[in-house]
Amino acid sequence: MAAVVEVVARRRRYRMGLMLVFLGLFMGNALAVDRSNFKTCDESSFCKRQRSLRPGLSPYRALLDSLQLGPDGLTVQLVHEVTKVVLVLELQGLQKNMTRFRLDELQPLHPRYRVSDVLVADPAPARLSVSGRDDNSVELTVAEGPYKIILTAKPFRLDLLEGRSLLLSVNARGLLEFEHQRHRRVPFSDKVSLTLGSMWDKIKNIFSRQGARDPAEVDGAQPEAAAGDGDKPEEPTEREEPGAWEETFKTHSDSKPYGPTSVGLDFSLPGMEHVYGIPEHADSLRLKVTEGGEPYRLYNLDVFQYELDNPMALYGSVPVLLAHSPHRDLGIFWLNAAETWVDISSNTAGKTLFGKMLDYLQGSGETPQTDVRWMSESGIIDVFLLLGPSVFDVFRQYTSLTGTQALPPLFSLGYHQSRWNYRDEADVLQVDQGFDDHNFPCDVIWLDIEHADGKRYFTWDPSRFPQPHSMLQHLASKRRKLVAIVDPHIKVDSGYRVHEELRNQGLYVKTRDGSDYEGWCWPGSAGYPDFINPATRAWWASMFSFDNYEGSAPNLFIWNDMNEPSVFNGPEVTMLKDAQHYGGWEHRDVHNIYGFYVHMATAEGLIQRSGGVERPFVLSRAFFAGSQRFGAVWTGDNTAEWDHLKISIPMCLSMGLVGLSFCGADVGGFFKNPDPELLVRWYQMGAFQPFFRAHAHLDTVRREPWLLPAQHQEVIREALGQRYSLLPYWYTLFYRAHIEGVPVMRPLWVQYPQDVTTFSIDDQFLLGDALLVHPVSDAGAHGVQVYLPGSGEVWYNIQSYQKHHGPQTLYLPVTLSSIPVFQRGGTVVPRWMRVRRSSDCMKDDPITLFVALSPQGMAQGELFLDDGHSFNYQTRQEFLLRRFSFSQNTLVSSSADLRGHFETPVWIERVVIMGAEKPATVVLQVPGSPESHLSFQHNTETSTLVVRKPGVSVASDWSIQLR
Ligand code: NOJ
Repeated sequence: MAAVVEVVARRRRYRMGLMLVFLGLFMGNALAVDRSNFKTCDESSFCKRQRSLRPGLSPYRALLDSLQLGPDGLTVQLVHEVTKVVLVLELQGLQKNMTRFRLDELQPLHPRYRVSDVLVADPAPARLSVSGRDDNSVELTVAEGPYKIILTAKPFRLDLLEGRSLLLSVNARGLLEFEHQRHRRVPFSDKVSLTLGSMWDKIKNIFSRQGARDPAEVDGAQPEAAAGDGDKPEEPTEREEPGAWEETFKTHSDSKPYGPTSVGLDFSLPGMEHVYGIPEHADSLRLKVTEGGEPYRLYNLDVFQYELDNPMALYGSVPVLLAHSPHRDLGIFWLNAAETWVDISSNTAGKTLFGKMLDYLQGSGETPQTDVRWMSESGIIDVFLLLGPSVFDVFRQYTSLTGTQALPPLFSLGYHQSRWNYRDEADVLQVDQGFDDHNFPCDVIWLDIEHADGKRYFTWDPSRFPQPHSMLQHLASKRRKLVAIVDPHIKVDSGYRVHEELRNQGLYVKTRDGSDYEGWCWPGSAGYPDFINPATRAWWASMFSFDNYEGSAPNLFIWNDMNEPSVFNGPEVTMLKDAQHYGGWEHRDVHNIYGFYVHMATAEGLIQRSGGVERPFVLSRAFFAGSQRFGAVWTGDNTAEWDHLKISIPMCLSMGLVGLSFCGADVGGFFKNPDPELLVRWYQMGAFQPFFRAHAHLDTVRREPWLLPAQHQEVIREALGQRYSLLPYWYTLFYRAHIEGVPVMRPLWVQYPQDVTTFSIDDQFLLGDALLVHPVSDAGAHGVQVYLPGSGEVWYNIQSYQKHHGPQTLYLPVTLSSIPVFQRGGTVVPRWMRVRRSSDCMKDDPITLFVALSPQGMAQGELFLDDGHSFNYQTRQEFLLRRFSFSQNTLVSSSADLRGHFETPVWIERVVIMGAEKPATVVLQVPGSPESHLSFQHNTETSTLVVRKPGVSVASDWSIQLR
């Protein structure tokens, strides 16, 4: 009953939300999140404790006598000068220009959680050797690395240098704070007071540095003598900070049986003024300084009606930060799955560009520096320093650790039509037919929670979806797919097989007293499978077999929602931190990785159901480092407002920077009803973002494209047409992301690392290195200011072929149908020119190559092709990777990977060359065949040459010469 009440309450909240939206609209105000449901740093006791420590000399000293050097790196002990608690530092040089270090207690009372399953393999170490030494420091040289590490003993710090330049320092600000595990303390006895008294001078010495926190506040500053005897729990004293052993938030209390266990550390980045990454936040691409405000929070949460431009936590967390300067790129990967906060400060924050220039001219400016401080509630400190030097190196370094983007099945790069909910089978079939009747392409129709029988996932509502199999077959006959939602909260119902099996096999998350944890979610009272347990994951994966998931079929794919996990009646709408997982870990330790494991197990299930042959497609709302290996992510419950349309760019760009290339935002906005103009603009935006799905809340009015006025329908048709025509390019970009770990959707600065103008651009982006997109995201826009970067670069408008020189800010007049997209001179983009019902209907279509010439008359591009759905590209080398290069008036097609072979009917139907002079003749050469002349047309005004019907197979080598 209470479950029903909660669900109804949540629905009511959604509905109330909607009413308020209308009110808000009327009053010109946007809706906002209820911030009181979510903690600030001050309300999160460990964040408050960590943050109250101010920069100064670190109380940690490395015991150089304990240093041991082995083939895998070095270990050395660090002692806290006051508490005498000893930590162990393990430091490794890694191949590919990376360094890793881990810090843990030498003798922890309980083991600390170490994240597993995120790294794809044990990173290969590069030998460390001692190349210098004095009383207080050791200099280490990393084999195969151009950098050195200086370990300073007192106060402890690490400095990474390349030549004479300092790349990065660890603990330079003395903010290493490792809350060692302890017993609860008794009130101070006289004896203890005495002991403390005798320690006081020492403490004063250590903390005499300016600005340091009062030692009386330092959590670890009490001598071990103050700790309780034996194992018996003791009463807190007035010296314990509130929240250290028990914490309450609103009505929720966290029992904290292990007391304070947080870890924190600072990193200084000299020469760096621009930092990015640490998604997910609805904020600008470039991270802001957090001094005087809230730190960025990483804690996977279901935030109802999230607000823009703030550092609050959202559904996913990737603890990876990128630092960029015109000369260098670095990354910091903080591998910790507990609640984490990140503070950013900079010595140039607030200075205007003019101020900085003045400093520079007067020689009075300090070297710019950004300082980053990470604080996590539990676990160990496990850090990878990704030393670039270029941002592409950082991408490769990071994805060599956590894996690259899974290669999506081709269909999943097409258009997805979703809403909460398509009512029944007839509705699904009508929507499917609607696309054909109105001539819009579509690959996938989605079913939200109402399709299941009483929100019992893996089942179908018997009255609304009595024949799922024939519905799926019908869609298959149209070469379309279905995605159904499977959430990780399982209805507590003894008649529900899924629940019974989980319960009987003991696979649910437990409360701290060992009973099955129950929370409220869509089905009412629900259990949460313990995905940290490999046995749960194996069981879950097996549920996707065609036998276990009745009514499923090979064209059914999966959506994992609410996997933060969302618990409507839990603290901050999630699970209690003292809930128990497999291995004795608390939810506190694993919170941010829970959704990752749900995604992992589901993807594995889809692979297994096909006997390991077919590639899966799984969309997940929660994510962590490495989630890119399992599929796609989206930005959750956005709102049909222009600012939400805009923020989809920096949100997806930030994810792409940290490996998650397959990102999208709900097209049209989840909450509220977009007006036709906003909806059209959102389709135009979505068509150029990696994951392209329209989705809407249950209470919104229907908005399938054909329900719009005719003129808007036409514009949406054009946007969908653009998407489908560029699918060969998208697919090739994803192949590159999969092979190399480079993002599909890129900020401009990634390609133009020295152009400071690009460093803060949030309203345009690149797809690969060829297309620059500046979607229109303002109501009633008549024009946009597009920044075209690159000195000596030329950009061709892909609609008009008009050529523009970079760098310049171009004012481009727009109409409702304009999507400003430019192709960079120097690139070749493959396209399919006939838009059909779905990508599957197009996959054998001929290719048109769009060659955009650089001012030097050169261009390069590639095309990846395979069957579009299986692992055969990997297991049997059944693929083609073709390279197209244009120079000296000749376009040459060759294989870019001779291992690949793939039988395909695809041929080259046309070549469009932008920036070409009119030739006298165009000649095709195919090895072993006589030369042939091709017909062509030249437009002098736009310098565009269209070469017709080369008619060669895409798999063969050929060249086309302009004579
Ligand atoms: C929350 C998701 O973010 C949204 O996309 C979905 O429609 C609802 N849950 C209902 O499943």
